[in-house]
Amino acid sequence: MKVLVINGPNLNMLGIREKNIYGTETLESINNDIKKRADELGCEIEFFQSNHEGEIIDKIHSVYGKVDGIVINPGAYTHYSLAIFDAIKSVSIDTYEVHISNVFAREEKRTNLVTTPACVGVISGFGSYGYILALEGLCHNASKKN
Ligand code: DQA
Repeated sequence: MKVLVINGPNLNMLGIREKNIYGTETLESINNDIKKRADELGCEIEFFQSNHEGEIIDKIHSVYGKVDGIVINPGAYTHYSLAIFDAIKSVSIDTYEVHISNVFAREEKRTNLVTTPACVGVISGFGSYGYILALEGLCHNASKKN
C-alpha cells in the first residue's frame, strides 16, 4: 500500500502561523507522527509540500497509477482551485482531504470548498490528528476494495 501526503500553501509555516488556530506542531513533527502510524499500518508513505498550485497539480499527475491513495490538505486552494479539483479527478486516485481547523466554524469564505467534492471524504477540525484519521480511513477502505 502506497500513500502520498500533500500539504499546500502556508502549511510549511505550521508551528509559527496562527498557533491559536493551527496549534504549535511543525509540519515535520506532524509528518513524523504520520510516518509512525503508516509503519504500523504497513503503508509506504511519501510527503510533499508546495506553496504553488502548478507544483501540486504536477505532483498529483506524477503518481497516476503509482499510489493507492492521497491525503491532501490543499490549504487555501481548497476554497478556489478548480484546477486541483480537476487534477484529483484526472488521476482517479482515492483522495482524502484534511483541514486542521474546522473550516465550517470559521469565516464564511472558508465554508466554500471547491476541491472537496473530488475527494472520497473530508476531515476538518481534528487538529493534526486529522491526517492520521484520514490515513487510517484510506487504508481501511483500500483493504476492503481488494
Ligand atoms: C486549512 C484551512 C484553510 O482555510 C486555510 O487556508 C489553511 C489551512 C486547515 O488546515 O485548517 O491554510 O486548510
